[in-house]
Amino acid sequence: MSSETPLRVGLIGTGIFASQRHYPAIASIPSSLQLAACANRSVDKAKKFAAIAGIPDSKVYDSLESLLSDPDVDAIDALLPSQFTLQAVKTAISAGKPIAIEKPIAATLAQAKEIVAVARSTEIPVAVLENFVFWNVIPEIKSLLGQIGEVIYFSHYCTAPFNFNNQYLDTWWRQKPEHVGGFLSDGGVHQVALFTEILGQVNSVSALATQVREQSGDVDTLTATLKMKSGVLGSFTYTSAVSNPRINKLSINGTNGTVIYDFSDKANATLMLYTDADKAGKVVSVPDNVQEGVPKEFENFAEAVQKQDKSLLKIPPEKAFHHFAVIVASVESSNNGGTAVKVAEP
Ligand SMILES: NC(=O)c1ccc[n+]([C@@H]2O[C@H](COP(=O)([O-])OP(=O)(O)OC[C@H]3O[C@@H](n4cnc5c(N)ncnc54)[C@H](OP(=O)(O)O)[C@@H]3O)[C@@H](O)[C@H]2O)c1
Repeated sequence: MSSETPLRVGLIGTGIFASQRHYPAIASIPSSLQLAACANRSVDKAKKFAAIAGIPDSKVYDSLESLLSDPDVDAIDALLPSQFTLQAVKTAISAGKPIAIEKPIAATLAQAKEIVAVARSTEIPVAVLENFVFWNVIPEIKSLLGQIGEVIYFSHYCTAPFNFNNQYLDTWWRQKPEHVGGFLSDGGVHQVALFTEILGQVNSVSALATQVREQSGDVDTLTATLKMKSGVLGSFTYTSAVSNPRINKLSINGTNGTVIYDFSDKANATLMLYTDADKAGKVVSVPDNVQEGVPKEFENFAEAVQKQDKSLLKIPPEKAFHHFAVIVASVESSNNGGTAVKVAEP
């Protein structure tokens, strides 16, 4: 495979996200990736997906094993309920093919640890698709931190109205979640990925969680106090189960200033820098397409595979493990009445 040849991808799990985001994202970067085949356990759904994605009937399968045995498939893109990602990783690596799995990395910490172990045991790239890590605003925020002195505290606050028409509520595996924390790990890992990419890893959490909506299937609302490995303190609030308006805000407080990224309105996100010398603050320009990470995560996966260098992966399983482990520790802390819980290491 030369680096000029697009990576030929076999996609498994032709559900909502495959049709709505993976297919358009892969189609938008034809020099990096090409959808060569697809599979779904209910094959009719795979056929419908294939028709939309321009995959011929002869390349539609009903299992990962069949997809892997297709010589025209170089790598796997797996969009499965998270309790099945471990088996998918093991199967792909046994077949000698790279795999990208969707977040959260797994349903339990034990499964996530096994995925990390499998990935460490091979040179074949195993990527976790956490698209927030590719947001353009992350390096922009990091570049401002030098102007606010020593970072002391941060607050990552994300509340959104409950959407009764949310298409994801209809998926059986979210209705009876095996993944710890249900919607908290489903969406929460994205937020943890965002602030840890900027501020480093979390050491321990004290958290309380509650379930607001019956439809969530598990706890859906979390408020946590964090101690980072750096010693920085923080708070993390996450819910999609309350009411309007949507508020998404990351504030980072230093000894000489504050950075505030307000992404409540995706189309009009603002980044503000306040310093002792500029108390009124100034708006820092936010890069275009700030929240479009999906094509970039595929480009990153393709590059690591083409160059046969897993160290190029921006989200190896170790990193995704941490994001998930923060949510798991938060749920455990809440179950213990809010006592501090150390975040597990892979
Ligand atoms: N990064 C993001 O922002 C983002 C957003 C949404 C979703 N996701 C992730 O994408 C993945 C898929 O989510 P989705 O919302 O698209 O869910 P979905 O619509 O339920 O799709 C899941 C697919 O997996 C298949 N599947 C279910 N159980 C299976 C099993 N036991 N063995 C093999 N295949 C099985 C389903 O096939 P059947 O139709 O036969 O059941 C379905 O096609 C999840 O990991 C999710 O966390 C990521």
